Amino acid sequence: MSARLTGAAFETLAGLLKTRSGLIIGQDKIYLLETRLSGILKKERLPDLNALADRLKRPGADGIAQDVVEAMTTNESFFFRDDKPFQHFRHHALPRLLETRPPTVPIRIWSAAASTGQEAYSIGMILAENEAAMGTHRAEILGTDIAREPLKRARQGLYTQFEVQRGLPVQMLMKYFRREEAGWRLSDMIRSKVQFREWNLLGDLRPLGRFDVVFCRNVLIYFDQPTKIRVLEAIAAQMPPDGVLYLGGAETVLGLTGRFVPLPGERGVYGLAGTSTPALAAAG
Ligand SMILES: C[S@@+](CC[C@H](N)C(=O)[O-])C[C@H]1O[C@@H](n2cnc3c(N)ncnc32)[C@H](O)[C@@H]1O
Repeated sequence: MSARLTGAAFETLAGLLKTRSGLIIGQDKIYLLETRLSGILKKERLPDLNALADRLKRPGADGIAQDVVEAMTTNESFFFRDDKPFQHFRHHALPRLLETRPPTVPIRIWSAAASTGQEAYSIGMILAENEAAMGTHRAEILGTDIAREPLKRARQGLYTQFEVQRGLPVQMLMKYFRREEAGWRLSDMIRSKVQFREWNLLGDLRPLGRFDVVFCRNVLIYFDQPTKIRVLEAIAAQMPPDGVLYLGGAETVLGLTGRFVPLPGERGVYGLAGTSTPALAAAG
């Protein structure tokens, strides 16, 4: 049987996760370390987490550290998750952008914790469904994530039967996917609308450029308050005054930063403070 995790080893692992990815692991989540890091112990032929913590303190441990961070991420995602943000994007944000942006300037949309790509591709399908309204406007969708494996899957655009049954309307499945032996493959047309890049939200976001719309959903929940504030403010700095931010159902800007304000009548939809964007608010 493996030795009990020592306090010092816990501090090493939890400290590494917090600094590298923002993930907060409390003492009550030791079981998560044990289950999610067991593959790394096997691969590195280490007897237990105490040995892994020791290994991480030795020089040349950068690759293992990245593996630890990646193994601890929660990559669950599904198409049109929670539906509401996508409805808002389709019916309010997109029409407003088409109205206010010259066709020569691409509309830029960011899926900031893209995981296996369902969020970015849901946006891609909305754009395809609105092709006529898009006219000569171009849009760029960027999906970023800290974890490489999910991004690899995102680029493949290949989903299991279970994944396409979660949230994806059947007409869209028929229209934009084709059946392959290994699952359902998204059409090249939708895949070509989305780029994926490895990017840490705790890093410098400036090289990514400006985004008219940011989906940063179901990732802030893993961070502590100061990290949430830092990430939200860094995102705000990448948006034009009339940009729109979508957060996950359990996330908010309230009590964290004054840079964003909730759009009236909406949940999880935010504009930048000091900007009047009535067209983005729900009708009524
Ligand atoms: C639960 S998924 C959310 C996927 C999608 N946004 C959704 O709502 O369905 C959370 C993702 O955040 C990523 N993540 C965690 N920490 C991150 C960081 N510091 N920078 C970028 N991505 C991060 C994880 O790798 C994971 O894929």
